[in-house]
Amino acid sequence: MSTQEIAWRVSLVLMTLVVFGFAFVAINSGTREEDYAPLQKRAYRVRTRLFWTLVSVFGPVMIYTLVGLPYDASRAGSVAGTVQVVEVKGYQWRWELSRDHVAKDQPVEFRVTSADVNHGFGIYGPDMHLVAETQAMPGYTNVVRYTFREEGTYRILCLEYCGVAHHNMMTEFKVGAL
Ligand code: CUA
Repeated sequence: MSTQEIAWRVSLVLMTLVVFGFAFVAINSGTREEDYAPLQKRAYRVRTRLFWTLVSVFGPVMIYTLVGLPYDASRAGSVAGTVQVVEVKGYQWRWELSRDHVAKDQPVEFRVTSADVNHGFGIYGPDMHLVAETQAMPGYTNVVRYTFREEGTYRILCLEYCGVAHHNMMTEFKVGAL
């Protein structure tokens, strides 16, 4: 079932509940005032039931949608011993990497800094889509973690104008079996 279908079914359930709510009010609108206390009791019961219905509908929906977020990728480095560390330093106008080959399906931690001015550290996949980025700053190390799922040649481009040869600030590294 697609996410859209699930959203549609949830909306349908909620719309049905709203219709029942209106029907309840409409049916009971003719009741005389001395009957108000028992009606109030019933309304509270309905409200409690509605509350738990909503919790049981939105609880699983919330968990389901959270599972889809890429939290795993950013948490990957917390598993000690499995992370591949790459020291990165930006210069006008080149990148220096402590290694140019990493294994796929294993978290990589890039520790990015700069020897001179601010640079933009951008990793591009074999299809030239940006997969991860951070800023390379002098006197500071930014950490970016990423787990590569596809083998191939990846490129690092500078994403921040840093002088006349900014456009030449490019290097490559390989993702594959070590
Ligand atoms: Cu370094 Cu632009």
